[in-house]
Amino acid sequence: MAKSVLSERQTLHPSELERRELPAEAGQSVRALAQEITVTLGASPAITTTLSDATLLRHIEDRYTELPEVVHQVMRAPATAAGVTVIGQLPLCDTELGTTPVDWRQAAEWAGDPDRASSSFALDVTMLLLARCAGEPFGWQGQQGGRLVNNIVPTPGHEQEQSGASSTTLLSPHTEDAFHPQRANLLMLGCLRNPDRVGTTVSSVRRVELDAAQRERLRRRELPILPDVSYGDDFDTEPAPAVATLGDDDGGLTLRFDPAYTPLDSADGEFLAAYDRLATELERVCITAALTPGELLLVDNDVVVHGRVPFTPRYDGTDRWLKRVNIRLPQRRRAAAEATENGYGQRVVAPFRTIRGNRS
Ligand SMILES: [Fe+2]
Repeated sequence: MAKSVLSERQTLHPSELERRELPAEAGQSVRALAQEITVTLGASPAITTTLSDATLLRHIEDRYTELPEVVHQVMRAPATAAGVTVIGQLPLCDTELGTTPVDWRQAAEWAGDPDRASSSFALDVTMLLLARCAGEPFGWQGQQGGRLVNNIVPTPGHEQEQSGASSTTLLSPHTEDAFHPQRANLLMLGCLRNPDRVGTTVSSVRRVELDAAQRERLRRRELPILPDVSYGDDFDTEPAPAVATLGDDDGGLTLRFDPAYTPLDSADGEFLAAYDRLATELERVCITAALTPGELLLVDNDVVVHGRVPFTPRYDGTDRWLKRVNIRLPQRRRAAAEATENGYGQRVVAPFRTIRGNRS
């Protein structure tokens, strides 16, 4: 499968990307509300380690509705066939960030350290408020300690991995958590820092060209998709159900695709040819967003695969730093066949679903 062209693309925001403007005043009100909640609760490890503290969640749930209507408008799911939206621009000052942590553990630790002048806890709360406007934020018990807001930073020793901690290797286009039936419908990536304008790549299945036979083949459940390395690497004893690569949502094409974690060696030639064609097409329609600080990228994880171009990590405290939130859209339905999958024993941390459930 060719993977070479992505590294050549450095366009800031191609015109195919849907862009929505967050007015400065509205951005300020999001940050102000987050600040108010942060000050009320105080940063402490009990709250910041996973962000699942009941008081914090109650504040988010009770108050996100107070945000200006325009915030709710810009945070709705992407509306075009491209399946991605850039939202600009949250007010953010580089000096408030302090140094970029070296890994997700350090990011979580620093967020809970009241002695650090620069705590990213307020930004975590900001991300949760914004994500709650879009849908239900959730995490994974087995990823980044179950934290509801993930930190994406390049990490020493992980440069070549197929995970968000990598850097010098191309992060191949993939569906986030493709292995799991409860994977996110939307991903929100919030850019805190990106000094080298490292591009996030996105490709929509609704822009690819496949013939009828290829589509039909890719709709069949053919191969499993295994959990990625951020969940560990010991899944040999779990059942590995075959999944469909292509699906439908209200007549629109959807996909579930992660070749780096799919045992393609065991597929037959006809399937491989169709899969390869899909991969080539996804590369053809690939566009790159080089996020700037304060910008958010909303990715429709049912429609779009995302990746990242290779870059050289700095490891000097000024590295690229994104905050990532998984979001469930309760109104979305997935193929009934997925309901029987056990997701390799991986469990979601979905407190907002419980809160909503208790209300109704
Ligand atoms: Fe990803």
